[in-house]
Amino acid sequence: MKEALINLSYLTASVMFIFCLKDLAHPRTAIRGNLIGALGMLLAIVVTLFDRNIVSYNIIIYGVILGTIAGYIIAMKIKMTGMPQLVAILNGFGGGASILVAGAAMVETGVTGDTLLLQTSIATAASGIIGAVTFWGSMVAFLKLQEMWIPGNPVLFRGQHLINLVLLLIAIGLGTWLVLDPSAHSAYWYLVILSSILGLLIVIPIGGADMPVVIALLNSYSGIAGATTGFVLNNNGLIIAGALVGASGIILSKIMCKAMNRSLTNVLFGGVGSVAAAGPGQGDIYAGKVKSASAEELAMILDDARQVMIVPGYGMAVAQAQHPVRDLTNLLESKGIKVNFAIHPVAGRMPGHMNILLAEAGIPYEKLKEMDESNSMMESTDVSIVLGANDVVNPIARTDPKSPIAGMPIIDVDKSRTVVIIKRSLASGFAGIPNPLFVADNSLMYFGDGKKAILDLIQAVKEG
Ligand code: TAP
Repeated sequence: MKEALINLSYLTASVMFIFCLKDLAHPRTAIRGNLIGALGMLLAIVVTLFDRNIVSYNIIIYGVILGTIAGYIIAMKIKMTGMPQLVAILNGFGGGASILVAGAAMVETGVTGDTLLLQTSIATAASGIIGAVTFWGSMVAFLKLQEMWIPGNPVLFRGQHLINLVLLLIAIGLGTWLVLDPSAHSAYWYLVILSSILGLLIVIPIGGADMPVVIALLNSYSGIAGATTGFVLNNNGLIIAGALVGASGIILSKIMCKAMNRSLTNVLFGGVGSVAAAGPGQGDIYAGKVKSASAEELAMILDDARQVMIVPGYGMAVAQAQHPVRDLTNLLESKGIKVNFAIHPVAGRMPGHMNILLAEAGIPYEKLKEMDESNSMMESTDVSIVLGANDVVNPIARTDPKSPIAGMPIIDVDKSRTVVIIKRSLASGFAGIPNPLFVADNSLMYFGDGKKAILDLIQAVKEG
């Protein structure tokens, strides 16, 4: 009876996770989805506390208190622009927890004199391999994004893929040893060490621009490691929750690859980013061709416009310009100008980055146009305002097959009548490449911090 009640609770929690994912798919329902997911997790944790033969609640309580304090401080301190790093490190902890929990369950069988069942030993080996790859891969992703100790560009060396393959095969061999001889616990720890090296080597050759996809993939791995640990513990809640994370991470990786016109294989094995230095120097592209405008000139151009498209990018997040952008939108609309926003799927530094910032500023969701829709509106757009975006509007993606962003669909601002680009300098974006849009015939640069620039523009429009 108790068992049935526990499984029913896990099922309820799992259904809540599914509703959570469904609600998270739209900004309007995302907050509710988050809440449903958190409640589902609370239910799963409470049930687990009743379910297991817990030796002492003290350690659990200390763990909860410490974890809550650490989580609170990190969440409050992290800047929106540092969110990918936070996600990377949290994925890593999921993988690390899987290694430790599966290892501890194995050690426990040694203490109690039991032997691992076939299902348990297979799941233990899988948790060790996937957990260690996730943990160390995520640590490299974190350090690359933080630009701490490891350079953000791809680190390539000869024989990389062969070494990875050999490491994986040996790790699988050690896993097979554990399955055939469940008392060979040392095989598990060797397997964890080799998989840790594999995790480091898999992520090191991946360039910073591909990191978002890698993080989504590592997120998926952390879910799969959780699910396999669920098999170790015979915990249905963990199996289902892990499988959901695993599947959604893979789907997100695929969506992001599609947005960048890349295959997952190319992201993982392409070493993209290392070729950026071979492109033309910035001076060659920009020399003497940049046209910049004052706020007053831009206000005059806007005065003539009927349709404006704002294209936000990472720089809007850095400048925290979303609130002034809302004020500019309201001001222009009060003058009868239609304003929309073109959202590139990888603008900023995390999926949905721009949507979150604009929603925070109270900009209606209907104004946020996905790439295909906004591109279909470009030819009838009078003015595109590119605010701190660079790679996602770089026409080089269409023209230079050697570019690190070759083939990535972009927001076609160059097809609008006038393009206004707001940024502090001619510096490149995340992919580290020059952008010919800055010197296109219909482009005007407005140099300055994104927030100050928009405030100046508002002032000029009001005075115009
Ligand atoms: P980026 O290409 O990174 O360009 C951002 C631009 O913002 C920079 O060129 C910078 O130029 C400008 N900027 C920085 N601070 C500013 C400020 N305070 N005020 C005004 N401008 C400022 O951005 P993007 O177009 O959004 O493209 C995103 C890139 O990041 C893509 O390559 C994407 O693949 C990658 N990426 C995406 C994600 C996700 S999932 N969204 C995660 C990681 C990486 P100045 O220095 O001249 O101002």
